[in-house]
Amino acid sequence: MAVSSYTLVLVLCFFAGLSSFGKGEDGLGCSFIFGDSLVDAGNNNFLSTLSKANIRPNGIDFTASGGNPTGRYTNGRTIGDIVGEELGQPNYALPFLSPNTTGKAILSGVNYASGGGGIMNATGRIFVNRLSLDIQIDYFNITRKQIDKLLGPSKARDYLMKKSIFSITIGANDFLNNYLLPVLSVGVRISESPDAFIDDLINNLRGQLTRLYQLDARKFVVGNVGPIGCIPYQKTINQLSEDQCVELPNKLATQYNGRLKDLLAELNDNLPGATFVHANVYDLVLEVITNYAKYGFKSASQACCGNGGQFQGIIPCGPTSTMCDDRSKYVFWDPYHPSEAANIIVAKQLIDGDTKYISPVNLRQLRDL
Ligand SMILES: *[C@@H]1O[C@H](CO)[C@@H](O)[C@H](O)[C@H]1NC(C)=O
Ligand SMILES: *[C@@H]1O[C@H](CO)[C@@H](O)[C@H](O)[C@H]1NC(C)=O
Ligand SMILES: *[C@@H]1O[C@H](CO)[C@@H](O)[C@H](O)[C@H]1NC(C)=O
Repeated sequence: MAVSSYTLVLVLCFFAGLSSFGKGEDGLGCSFIFGDSLVDAGNNNFLSTLSKANIRPNGIDFTASGGNPTGRYTNGRTIGDIVGEELGQPNYALPFLSPNTTGKAILSGVNYASGGGGIMNATGRIFVNRLSLDIQIDYFNITRKQIDKLLGPSKARDYLMKKSIFSITIGANDFLNNYLLPVLSVGVRISESPDAFIDDLINNLRGQLTRLYQLDARKFVVGNVGPIGCIPYQKTINQLSEDQCVELPNKLATQYNGRLKDLLAELNDNLPGATFVHANVYDLVLEVITNYAKYGFKSASQACCGNGGQFQGIIPCGPTSTMCDDRSKYVFWDPYHPSEAANIIVAKQLIDGDTKYISPVNLRQLRDL
């Protein structure tokens, strides 16, 4: 009896060992995550900044931290976390600025995203400190050299080109915390038309994505800007009703998104061996907001955690906020960010969805290229 259960355990371990080995071989090695608070996994904890999320009850549903805040701007996992997990990455990508992000740990991926960050250096200066995309790529250049040291130059190149996905989730702050911001940016808005501002964004982003390519990134996914006129903050300050969204931010986002799609097509044509995948976050999130009941949500306008105005949309989520009873029933966790429940729906579409939301290939196909 004792012998046979011992044997059984051995056999189970053997198969478990096999299957996790298989996963490691076929799965995603690594994700390198660039972007803003939608995907920040704790970088801002290490900055003196007004944009921070390492306070309760943020992270309350994040199992890996036992419900403690990690610096993620949501109740649970970000889209970047969920995608990494589903595609077989061994661990969540670690925040670049954390002292723990050293040695072999970086081979599971590194996260450079920063709450308040944007394509432009000036974006988010209202928060004092944040990592803009140029800085995030400077930091990746540091990681790049560390990977060379760990694996040797030839294996390192292979690892980056074949086993790594580079995700870029950025642009919302360039509107919300730059172009559309009263007082600070009024000068820019008077001197620069929306067309000219969007031109600047696209030109900078072209340079930034090209720099990543020069550092051996080949599998890219770039998210467009979501319906930023529909977030509780915008709806509250503009005193809208439940089913309305603020027009100007959505119009600017749509205009930028059209140009982004063209940019990614252009890069696919011009950068040999690279695949740029377009993630249509705008349409996907708008679909969830519009048909929220169909997805099991109770509200797509109220922030679950926040305070102020008709949608709890003014004061960010913190220890003194009111919090909803059932966090899985709200599209928005706080005045700006989706809940984990919404992130799961979006991530699933990006991983296995069709070209309506993710093109030319979905993320599972991108991993397997
Ligand atoms: C770093 O790792 C140590 C030991 O594993 C852990 O206790 C600590 O919380 C980690 N720090 C951060 C900032 O993640
Ligand atoms: C940001 O600043 C750096 C120099 O500090 C400059 O090289 C870069 O072009 C700037 N990028 C943008 C997007 O303005
Ligand atoms: C990476 O850093 C090196 C200096 O260590 C610099 O020469 C190179 O231009 C940087 N590459 C990019 C793409 O920024």
